[in-house]
Amino acid sequence: VQGALWGGRFAGGPADALAALSKSTHFDWRLAGYDIAGSRAHARVLHKAGLLDDAELEGMLQALDRLDADVKSGAYVPAESDEDVHGSLERGLIERAGAQLGGKLRAGRSRNDQIATLGRMYLRDHARIIGAGVLSVIEALVGQAQAHLGVAMPGRTHLQHAQPVLLSHHLLAHAWALLRDVQRLADWDKRAAVSPYGSGALAGSSLGLDPNAVAADLGFDSAVWNSIDGTASRDVYAEFSWVAAMIGVDLSRISEEVILWATKEFSFVTLDDAFSTGSSIMPQKKNPDVAELARGKAGRLIGDLTGLLATLKGLPLAYNRDLQEDKEPVFDAADTLELLLPAVSGMIATLTFNTGRMQSLAPQGFALATDIAEWLVRQGVPFREAHELSGAAVQLAEGRGVELWDLTDEEYAGISPHLTPEVRSVLSTEGSLDSRSSQGGTAQSAVEQQLAELHRQLEAV
Ligand code: ARG
Repeated sequence: VQGALWGGRFAGGPADALAALSKSTHFDWRLAGYDIAGSRAHARVLHKAGLLDDAELEGMLQALDRLDADVKSGAYVPAESDEDVHGSLERGLIERAGAQLGGKLRAGRSRNDQIATLGRMYLRDHARIIGAGVLSVIEALVGQAQAHLGVAMPGRTHLQHAQPVLLSHHLLAHAWALLRDVQRLADWDKRAAVSPYGSGALAGSSLGLDPNAVAADLGFDSAVWNSIDGTASRDVYAEFSWVAAMIGVDLSRISEEVILWATKEFSFVTLDDAFSTGSSIMPQKKNPDVAELARGKAGRLIGDLTGLLATLKGLPLAYNRDLQEDKEPVFDAADTLELLLPAVSGMIATLTFNTGRMQSLAPQGFALATDIAEWLVRQGVPFREAHELSGAAVQLAEGRGVELWDLTDEEYAGISPHLTPEVRSVLSTEGSLDSRSSQGGTAQSAVEQQLAELHRQLEAV
Protein backbone atom coordinates (compact mmCIF):
# COMPACT_ATOMS: atom_id res chain seq x y z
CA VAL A 1 0.00 0.00 0.00
CA GLN A 2 1.43 3.29 -1.19
CA GLY A 3 2.69 5.50 1.65
CA ALA A 4 1.22 3.47 4.53
CA LEU A 5 3.48 2.17 7.30
CA TRP A 6 2.01 -1.31 7.02
CA GLY A 7 1.52 -2.04 3.30
CA GLY A 8 3.61 -5.19 2.74
CA ARG A 9 1.08 -7.94 3.20
CA PHE A 10 -1.84 -6.13 1.58
CA ALA A 11 -2.85 -6.47 -2.05
CA GLY A 12 -4.70 -3.18 -2.14
CA GLY A 13 -5.24 0.01 -0.22
CA PRO A 14 -7.89 0.65 2.42
CA ALA A 15 -11.41 1.60 1.43
CA ASP A 16 -12.01 5.35 1.48
CA ALA A 17 -14.39 4.87 4.38
CA LEU A 18 -11.72 3.08 6.43
CA ALA A 19 -9.06 5.63 5.56
CA ALA A 20 -11.37 8.42 6.69
CA LEU A 21 -12.25 6.59 9.91
CA SER A 22 -8.65 5.70 10.66
CA LYS A 23 -7.19 9.13 10.17
CA SER A 24 -5.98 11.06 13.20
CA THR A 25 -3.74 13.78 11.78
CA HIS A 26 -6.40 16.43 12.39
CA PHE A 27 -5.93 15.95 16.13
CA ASP A 28 -2.58 14.24 16.64
CA TRP A 29 -0.57 16.71 14.56
CA ARG A 30 -0.11 18.80 17.68
CA LEU A 31 2.25 16.02 18.82
CA ALA A 32 4.58 16.49 15.84
CA GLY A 33 7.30 18.29 17.82
CA TYR A 34 7.27 15.54 20.44
CA ASP A 35 7.34 12.85 17.75
CA ILE A 36 10.46 14.43 16.24
CA ALA A 37 12.10 14.71 19.68
CA GLY A 38 11.35 11.01 20.15
CA SER A 39 12.87 10.26 16.75
CA ARG A 40 16.08 12.10 17.66
CA ALA A 41 16.37 10.11 20.90
CA HIS A 42 15.58 6.90 19.06
CA ALA A 43 18.24 7.61 16.40
CA ARG A 44 20.79 8.00 19.19
CA VAL A 45 20.02 4.62 20.75
CA LEU A 46 20.08 2.97 17.30
CA HIS A 47 23.56 4.48 16.89
CA LYS A 48 24.59 3.33 20.38
CA ALA A 49 23.44 -0.17 19.49
CA GLY A 50 25.54 -0.10 16.30
CA LEU A 51 22.54 0.04 13.97
CA LEU A 52 23.40 3.47 12.60
CA ASP A 53 27.00 4.51 11.92
CA ASP A 54 28.31 7.98 12.79
CA ALA A 55 27.54 9.43 9.38
CA GLU A 56 24.06 7.95 9.37
CA LEU A 57 23.28 9.37 12.79
CA GLU A 58 24.53 12.76 11.65
CA GLY A 59 22.46 12.61 8.45
CA MET A 60 19.39 11.44 10.38
CA LEU A 61 19.62 14.23 12.97
CA GLN A 62 20.12 16.85 10.28
CA ALA A 63 17.12 15.60 8.33
CA LEU A 64 15.05 15.60 11.54
CA ASP A 65 16.15 19.20 12.24
CA ARG A 66 15.06 20.26 8.78
CA LEU A 67 11.76 18.44 9.18
CA ASP A 68 11.26 20.06 12.60
CA ALA A 69 11.87 23.53 11.14
CA ASP A 70 9.45 22.83 8.29
CA VAL A 71 6.77 21.59 10.69
CA LYS A 72 7.23 24.68 12.86
CA SER A 73 7.07 27.10 9.93
CA GLY A 74 4.07 25.30 8.48
CA ALA A 75 6.00 24.42 5.29
CA TYR A 76 5.42 20.74 6.09
CA VAL A 77 1.87 19.65 6.87
CA PRO A 78 0.19 16.23 6.81
CA ALA A 79 -0.97 15.07 3.39
CA GLU A 80 -4.50 13.89 2.73
CA SER A 81 -3.10 10.36 2.43
CA ASP A 82 -1.28 10.40 5.81
CA GLU A 83 -2.94 8.26 8.46
CA ASP A 84 -1.38 9.71 11.59
CA VAL A 85 1.35 12.00 12.86
CA HIS A 86 3.89 9.16 12.93
CA GLY A 87 3.30 8.06 9.35
CA SER A 88 3.26 11.60 8.08
CA LEU A 89 6.55 12.46 9.76
CA GLU A 90 8.18 9.30 8.42
CA ARG A 91 7.15 10.42 4.94
CA GLY A 92 8.64 13.85 5.65
CA LEU A 93 11.85 12.30 6.94
CA ILE A 94 12.24 10.09 3.89
CA GLU A 95 11.66 13.11 1.63
CA ARG A 96 14.59 14.79 3.41
CA ALA A 97 16.96 11.90 4.22
CA GLY A 98 16.17 9.55 1.34
CA ALA A 99 14.48 6.15 1.57
CA GLN A 100 17.74 4.33 2.38
CA LEU A 101 18.53 6.28 5.56
CA GLY A 102 15.03 7.48 6.45
CA GLY A 103 13.77 3.89 6.28
CA LYS A 104 16.12 2.85 9.10
CA LEU A 105 14.56 4.92 11.87
CA ARG A 106 11.53 2.75 12.45
CA ALA A 107 13.63 -0.20 13.62
CA GLY A 108 12.84 -1.26 17.17
CA ARG A 109 9.93 1.07 17.75
CA SER A 110 6.23 0.97 17.11
CA ARG A 111 3.57 3.60 16.88
CA ASN A 112 2.20 1.95 20.00
CA ASP A 113 5.14 2.87 22.24
CA GLN A 114 5.59 6.16 20.37
CA ILE A 115 2.06 7.41 20.92
CA ALA A 116 1.99 6.34 24.57
CA THR A 117 5.17 8.34 25.15
CA LEU A 118 4.24 11.43 23.15
CA GLY A 119 0.94 11.79 24.99
CA ARG A 120 2.76 11.79 28.31
CA MET A 121 5.23 14.39 27.06
CA TYR A 122 2.42 16.61 25.84
CA LEU A 123 0.42 16.30 29.05
CA ARG A 124 3.46 16.91 31.27
CA ASP A 125 4.12 20.21 29.48
CA HIS A 126 0.49 21.23 29.65
CA ALA A 127 0.14 20.21 33.29
CA ARG A 128 2.77 22.86 34.02
CA ILE A 129 0.83 25.52 32.08
CA ILE A 130 -2.40 24.52 33.81
CA GLY A 131 -0.68 24.48 37.22
CA ALA A 132 0.54 28.04 36.63
CA GLY A 133 -2.98 29.06 35.60
CA VAL A 134 -4.47 27.58 38.76
CA LEU A 135 -1.82 29.39 40.80
CA SER A 136 -2.98 32.67 39.22
CA VAL A 137 -6.52 31.97 40.39
CA ILE A 138 -5.17 31.22 43.88
CA GLU A 139 -3.19 34.47 43.76
CA ALA A 140 -6.33 36.40 42.85
CA LEU A 141 -8.22 34.82 45.76
CA VAL A 142 -5.37 35.47 48.18
CA GLY A 143 -5.09 39.07 46.93
CA GLN A 144 -8.78 39.68 47.62
CA ALA A 145 -8.52 37.90 50.98
CA GLN A 146 -5.61 40.10 52.03
CA ALA A 147 -7.31 43.25 50.80
CA HIS A 148 -10.45 42.50 52.85
CA LEU A 149 -9.06 41.12 56.10
CA GLY A 150 -11.55 41.92 58.85
CA VAL A 151 -14.65 42.09 56.63
CA ALA A 152 -17.40 39.77 57.87
CA MET A 153 -20.03 38.08 55.75
CA PRO A 154 -22.85 35.62 56.31
CA GLY A 155 -21.41 32.11 56.38
CA ARG A 156 -23.91 29.66 54.95
CA THR A 157 -24.88 26.02 55.11
CA HIS A 158 -27.75 24.81 52.91
CA LEU A 159 -27.41 28.33 51.41
CA GLN A 160 -29.09 29.62 54.62
CA HIS A 161 -27.42 31.99 57.04
CA ALA A 162 -25.42 29.83 59.46
CA GLN A 163 -22.66 31.72 61.30
CA PRO A 164 -20.70 34.87 60.50
CA VAL A 165 -17.34 34.26 58.82
CA LEU A 166 -14.64 36.50 57.46
CA LEU A 167 -14.84 37.13 53.72
CA SER A 168 -11.12 36.29 53.65
CA HIS A 169 -11.82 32.95 55.29
CA HIS A 170 -14.46 32.16 52.68
CA LEU A 171 -12.22 33.15 49.75
CA LEU A 172 -9.31 31.15 51.13
CA ALA A 173 -11.51 28.05 51.35
CA HIS A 174 -11.55 28.11 47.55
CA ALA A 175 -7.80 28.75 47.48
CA TRP A 176 -7.07 25.60 49.54
CA ALA A 177 -9.12 23.43 47.18
CA LEU A 178 -7.23 24.83 44.20
CA LEU A 179 -3.89 24.43 45.96
CA ARG A 180 -4.64 20.73 46.36
CA ASP A 181 -5.30 20.60 42.61
CA VAL A 182 -1.86 22.09 41.93
CA GLN A 183 -0.34 19.59 44.37
CA ARG A 184 -2.20 16.82 42.55
CA LEU A 185 -0.71 17.90 39.22
CA ALA A 186 2.78 17.82 40.75
CA ASP A 187 2.13 14.41 42.28
CA TRP A 188 0.66 13.10 39.00
CA ASP A 189 3.84 14.14 37.23
CA LYS A 190 5.82 11.51 39.16
CA ARG A 191 3.71 8.80 37.54
CA ALA A 192 3.74 10.54 34.16
CA ALA A 193 7.54 10.82 34.19
CA VAL A 194 7.99 7.20 33.11
CA SER A 195 8.64 6.60 29.40
CA PRO A 196 6.97 3.81 27.39
CA TYR A 197 9.47 4.29 24.49
CA GLY A 198 11.27 1.01 23.86
CA SER A 199 8.22 -1.09 24.61
CA GLY A 200 7.80 -1.61 20.85
CA ALA A 201 4.43 -2.96 19.77
CA LEU A 202 3.97 -4.67 23.16
CA ALA A 203 6.91 -6.98 23.89
CA GLY A 204 10.00 -4.77 23.86
CA SER A 205 12.79 -4.78 21.29
CA SER A 206 15.29 -7.43 20.23
CA LEU A 207 17.73 -4.81 18.92
CA GLY A 208 19.58 -4.00 22.14
CA LEU A 209 18.18 -0.48 22.40
CA ASP A 210 18.42 1.32 25.74
CA PRO A 211 14.97 2.55 26.84
CA ASN A 212 16.43 4.51 29.74
CA ALA A 213 18.66 6.52 27.41
CA VAL A 214 15.59 7.50 25.37
CA ALA A 215 13.69 8.26 28.58
CA ALA A 216 16.46 10.55 29.86
CA ASP A 217 16.75 12.24 26.46
CA LEU A 218 13.01 13.05 26.54
CA GLY A 219 13.03 14.40 30.11
CA PHE A 220 11.54 11.33 31.79
CA ASP A 221 12.82 9.96 35.09
CA SER A 222 12.99 6.39 33.83
CA ALA A 223 11.59 3.87 31.36
CA VAL A 224 8.63 1.56 32.10
CA TRP A 225 9.37 -1.83 33.65
CA ASN A 226 6.72 -3.63 31.61
CA SER A 227 6.34 -3.13 27.87
CA ILE A 228 2.74 -4.38 27.87
CA ASP A 229 1.85 -1.87 30.55
CA GLY A 230 3.82 0.77 28.63
CA THR A 231 1.76 0.38 25.47
CA ALA A 232 -1.65 -0.58 26.89
CA SER A 233 -2.17 1.58 29.98
CA ARG A 234 -3.76 5.00 29.89
CA ASP A 235 -4.38 5.52 33.58
CA VAL A 236 -1.88 8.37 33.50
CA TYR A 237 -4.11 10.12 30.94
CA ALA A 238 -7.22 9.31 32.95
CA GLU A 239 -5.66 10.68 36.13
CA PHE A 240 -4.72 13.89 34.31
CA SER A 241 -8.26 14.11 33.06
CA TRP A 242 -9.63 13.57 36.58
CA VAL A 243 -7.48 16.38 37.97
CA ALA A 244 -8.60 18.59 35.07
CA ALA A 245 -12.23 17.78 35.85
CA MET A 246 -11.66 18.49 39.54
CA ILE A 247 -10.16 21.87 38.67
CA GLY A 248 -13.22 22.50 36.52
CA VAL A 249 -15.51 21.57 39.40
CA ASP A 250 -13.59 23.78 41.83
CA LEU A 251 -13.76 26.73 39.42
CA SER A 252 -17.44 26.03 38.89
CA ARG A 253 -18.18 26.22 42.61
CA ILE A 254 -16.45 29.59 42.86
CA SER A 255 -18.33 30.70 39.78
CA GLU A 256 -21.71 29.69 41.12
CA GLU A 257 -21.08 31.94 44.11
CA VAL A 258 -19.94 34.84 41.95
CA ILE A 259 -23.14 34.46 39.92
CA LEU A 260 -25.26 34.53 43.09
CA TRP A 261 -23.27 37.34 44.67
CA ALA A 262 -23.71 39.51 41.58
CA THR A 263 -27.53 39.29 41.70
CA LYS A 264 -29.62 42.25 42.81
CA GLU A 265 -30.81 40.19 45.78
CA PHE A 266 -27.33 39.45 47.11
CA SER A 267 -25.53 42.57 45.82
CA PHE A 268 -22.29 41.32 47.35
CA VAL A 269 -20.08 41.95 44.34
CA THR A 270 -19.81 44.09 41.25
CA LEU A 271 -18.08 42.55 38.27
CA ASP A 272 -15.52 44.59 36.44
CA ASP A 273 -16.69 45.75 33.00
CA ALA A 274 -13.76 43.88 31.44
CA PHE A 275 -15.07 40.60 32.86
CA SER A 276 -18.78 40.93 32.22
CA THR A 277 -21.00 41.15 29.17
CA GLY A 278 -24.16 42.94 28.10
CA SER A 279 -27.41 41.98 26.45
CA SER A 280 -28.30 42.61 22.83
CA ILE A 281 -31.83 43.66 23.82
CA MET A 282 -31.80 44.73 27.50
CA PRO A 283 -29.64 47.83 27.79
CA GLN A 284 -29.22 47.56 31.56
CA LYS A 285 -27.76 44.05 31.64
CA LYS A 286 -24.38 43.16 33.06
CA ASN A 287 -23.95 39.42 32.95
CA PRO A 288 -21.42 37.14 34.70
CA ASP A 289 -20.53 35.21 31.54
CA VAL A 290 -17.04 34.23 32.68
CA ALA A 291 -18.49 32.49 35.71
CA GLU A 292 -21.26 30.90 33.69
CA LEU A 293 -18.83 29.60 31.08
CA ALA A 294 -16.65 28.21 33.87
CA ARG A 295 -19.68 26.44 35.30
CA GLY A 296 -20.60 25.14 31.86
CA LYS A 297 -17.10 24.00 30.98
CA ALA A 298 -16.90 21.94 34.18
CA GLY A 299 -19.55 19.73 32.57
CA ARG A 300 -17.42 19.42 29.48
CA LEU A 301 -14.33 18.48 31.53
CA ILE A 302 -16.32 15.81 33.36
CA GLY A 303 -17.44 14.55 29.95
CA ASP A 304 -13.84 14.31 28.78
CA LEU A 305 -13.02 12.13 31.80
CA THR A 306 -16.04 9.87 31.54
CA GLY A 307 -15.57 9.46 27.78
CA LEU A 308 -11.97 8.41 28.29
CA LEU A 309 -12.79 5.97 31.10
CA ALA A 310 -15.55 4.45 28.98
CA THR A 311 -13.07 3.95 26.14
CA LEU A 312 -10.68 2.13 28.46
CA LYS A 313 -13.03 -0.05 30.42
CA GLY A 314 -13.40 -3.08 28.15
CA LEU A 315 -9.95 -3.18 26.60
CA PRO A 316 -7.90 -6.38 26.73
CA LEU A 317 -4.12 -6.00 26.82
CA ALA A 318 -2.16 -4.76 25.01
CA TYR A 319 -2.67 -1.99 22.40
CA ASN A 320 -6.08 -1.75 20.75
CA ARG A 321 -7.03 0.81 18.17
CA ASP A 322 -9.71 2.09 20.53
CA LEU A 323 -6.80 3.84 22.24
CA GLN A 324 -6.65 6.33 19.39
CA GLU A 325 -9.69 7.83 21.11
CA ASP A 326 -7.56 8.69 24.17
CA LYS A 327 -6.19 11.92 22.77
CA GLU A 328 -9.10 14.22 22.00
CA PRO A 329 -10.51 14.14 25.56
CA VAL A 330 -7.21 15.03 27.20
CA PHE A 331 -6.36 17.63 24.57
CA ASP A 332 -9.79 19.14 25.03
CA ALA A 333 -9.35 19.17 28.80
CA ALA A 334 -6.01 20.97 28.51
CA ASP A 335 -7.33 23.44 25.88
CA THR A 336 -10.42 24.16 27.96
CA LEU A 337 -8.51 24.90 31.15
CA GLU A 338 -5.87 26.96 29.38
CA LEU A 339 -8.65 29.13 27.96
CA LEU A 340 -10.65 29.30 31.17
CA LEU A 341 -8.08 29.87 33.91
CA PRO A 342 -6.87 33.34 32.83
CA ALA A 343 -10.48 34.53 32.51
CA VAL A 344 -11.43 33.24 35.97
CA SER A 345 -8.35 34.71 37.65
CA GLY A 346 -9.02 38.05 35.93
CA MET A 347 -12.65 38.00 37.01
CA ILE A 348 -11.75 37.30 40.65
CA ALA A 349 -8.89 39.79 40.80
CA THR A 350 -11.17 42.59 39.57
CA LEU A 351 -14.26 41.85 41.70
CA THR A 352 -15.46 44.75 43.83
CA PHE A 353 -16.98 43.63 47.13
CA ASN A 354 -19.89 45.47 48.71
CA THR A 355 -18.31 45.08 52.13
CA GLY A 356 -20.84 47.23 53.99
CA ARG A 357 -23.72 45.03 52.88
CA MET A 358 -21.84 41.79 53.58
CA GLN A 359 -20.81 43.05 57.00
CA SER A 360 -24.34 44.15 57.99
CA LEU A 361 -25.94 40.89 56.81
CA ALA A 362 -23.30 38.77 58.58
CA PRO A 363 -25.10 38.36 61.94
CA GLN A 364 -28.65 38.45 60.58
CA GLY A 365 -30.98 35.47 60.30
CA PHE A 366 -30.16 34.47 63.91
CA ALA A 367 -26.61 33.61 62.85
CA LEU A 368 -25.42 34.16 66.44
CA ALA A 369 -27.63 31.45 67.97
CA THR A 370 -24.69 29.01 68.15
CA ASP A 371 -22.70 31.68 69.99
CA ILE A 372 -25.42 31.89 72.65
CA ALA A 373 -25.38 28.09 73.05
CA GLU A 374 -21.59 27.95 73.28
CA TRP A 375 -21.57 30.88 75.74
CA LEU A 376 -23.98 28.90 77.93
CA VAL A 377 -21.65 25.86 77.71
CA ARG A 378 -18.84 28.06 78.98
CA GLN A 379 -21.14 28.93 81.96
CA GLY A 380 -21.44 25.20 82.72
CA VAL A 381 -24.78 24.49 81.03
CA PRO A 382 -24.86 21.11 79.21
CA PHE A 383 -24.89 21.65 75.44
CA ARG A 384 -28.15 19.77 75.00
CA GLU A 385 -29.89 22.28 77.29
CA ALA A 386 -27.95 25.23 75.92
CA HIS A 387 -29.12 24.33 72.39
CA GLU A 388 -32.74 24.30 73.61
CA LEU A 389 -32.43 27.67 75.39
CA SER A 390 -30.81 29.36 72.42
CA GLY A 391 -33.49 27.87 70.19
CA ALA A 392 -36.15 29.34 72.48
CA ALA A 393 -34.53 32.77 72.08
CA VAL A 394 -34.65 32.33 68.28
CA GLN A 395 -38.32 31.35 68.46
CA LEU A 396 -39.13 34.40 70.55
CA ALA A 397 -37.20 36.76 68.28
CA GLU A 398 -38.64 35.25 65.13
CA GLY A 399 -42.17 35.64 66.54
CA ARG A 400 -41.52 39.28 67.28
CA GLY A 401 -39.83 39.87 63.92
CA VAL A 402 -36.57 41.03 65.52
CA GLU A 403 -32.99 39.78 65.73
CA LEU A 404 -31.42 38.10 68.78
CA TRP A 405 -29.74 41.25 70.03
CA ASP A 406 -33.11 43.08 70.05
CA LEU A 407 -34.51 40.83 72.83
CA THR A 408 -34.53 42.54 76.24
CA ASP A 409 -32.64 41.38 79.32
CA GLU A 410 -36.03 40.46 80.81
CA GLU A 411 -36.93 38.36 77.83
CA TYR A 412 -33.63 36.48 78.08
CA ALA A 413 -34.08 36.01 81.85
CA GLY A 414 -37.60 34.76 81.17
CA ILE A 415 -36.22 31.99 78.95
CA SER A 416 -33.68 30.92 81.60
CA PRO A 417 -31.88 32.44 84.60
CA HIS A 418 -28.66 31.25 82.88
CA LEU A 419 -29.24 33.86 80.19
CA THR A 420 -27.84 36.86 82.12
CA PRO A 421 -27.14 40.20 80.40
CA GLU A 422 -23.49 39.05 79.99
CA VAL A 423 -24.68 36.95 77.07
CA ARG A 424 -24.58 40.17 75.04
CA SER A 425 -20.79 39.83 74.84
CA VAL A 426 -21.28 37.21 72.10
CA LEU A 427 -24.26 38.91 70.45
CA SER A 428 -22.09 40.71 67.95
CA THR A 429 -20.34 39.71 64.75
CA GLU A 430 -16.95 40.63 66.22
CA GLY A 431 -17.53 38.60 69.40
CA SER A 432 -18.61 35.62 67.35
CA LEU A 433 -15.65 35.82 64.97
CA ASP A 434 -13.04 36.48 67.66
CA SER A 435 -14.12 33.44 69.66
CA ARG A 436 -13.29 31.07 66.76
CA SER A 437 -9.56 31.45 67.06
CA SER A 438 -8.30 27.87 66.99
CA GLN A 439 -6.49 26.54 63.91
CA GLY A 440 -8.75 26.62 60.88
CA GLY A 441 -11.24 28.97 62.55
CA THR A 442 -12.60 32.22 61.18
CA ALA A 443 -11.14 34.63 63.80
CA GLN A 444 -8.90 37.20 62.17
CA SER A 445 -5.89 35.91 64.15
CA ALA A 446 -6.55 32.37 62.86
CA VAL A 447 -7.06 33.61 59.30
CA GLU A 448 -3.72 35.44 59.47
CA GLN A 449 -2.03 32.19 60.53
CA GLN A 450 -3.91 30.41 57.78
CA LEU A 451 -2.58 32.87 55.22
CA ALA A 452 0.98 32.31 56.42
CA GLU A 453 0.58 28.53 56.11
CA LEU A 454 -1.02 28.88 52.67
CA HIS A 455 1.92 31.00 51.52
CA ARG A 456 4.30 28.37 52.91
CA GLN A 457 2.56 25.60 50.96
CA LEU A 458 2.41 27.75 47.83
CA GLU A 459 6.19 28.22 48.03
CA ALA A 460 6.59 24.44 48.21
CA VAL A 461 4.66 23.51 45.03
N1 ARG B 1 -2.69 6.68 15.67
C1 ARG B 1 -2.55 5.63 16.63
C2 ARG B 1 -3.09 6.06 17.99
O1 ARG B 1 -3.33 7.19 18.15
C3 ARG B 1 -1.12 5.28 16.79
C4 ARG B 1 -0.87 3.85 17.08
C5 ARG B 1 -1.39 3.02 15.98
N2 ARG B 1 -0.96 1.67 16.11
C6 ARG B 1 -1.45 0.69 15.36
N3 ARG B 1 -0.97 -0.47 15.54
N4 ARG B 1 -2.39 0.91 14.50
O2 ARG B 1 -3.29 5.27 18.89
